Amino acid sequence: MSNKYNIEIRHQGKTYKIQADEDQTILLSALEAEVELPSSCTAGVCTTCAALVLEGTVEQGDAMGVSKELQKEGYALLCVAYPRSDIKLESEKEDAIYQRQFGQPKS
Ligand code: FES
Repeated sequence: MSNKYNIEIRHQGKTYKIQADEDQTILLSALEAEVELPSSCTAGVCTTCAALVLEGTVEQGDAMGVSKELQKEGYALLCVAYPRSDIKLESEKEDAIYQRQFGQPKS
């Protein structure tokens, strides 16, 4: 049996609480719990699924779309992020990441 963690997701003004398996991406766990988070490539490249982890730890070895600096600040690509503790996160950080990495909003 793999561990399960409690994930609190702030998404579009609502807070969802879900259980997530450590062997499954947070994105997939959220979608299975019918939290309709945005996603596109599901491979850690496009940043559509970007979120900010407010509390807790994720493992995201395949997150190519986010710099290591931003990962240290808590930004995560949920399609390649696995929970390693209970987590609180805020969804829809694509624009924030884009601004931080390229200095302007994505048009
Ligand atoms: S959906 Fe593309 S980086 Fe996650």
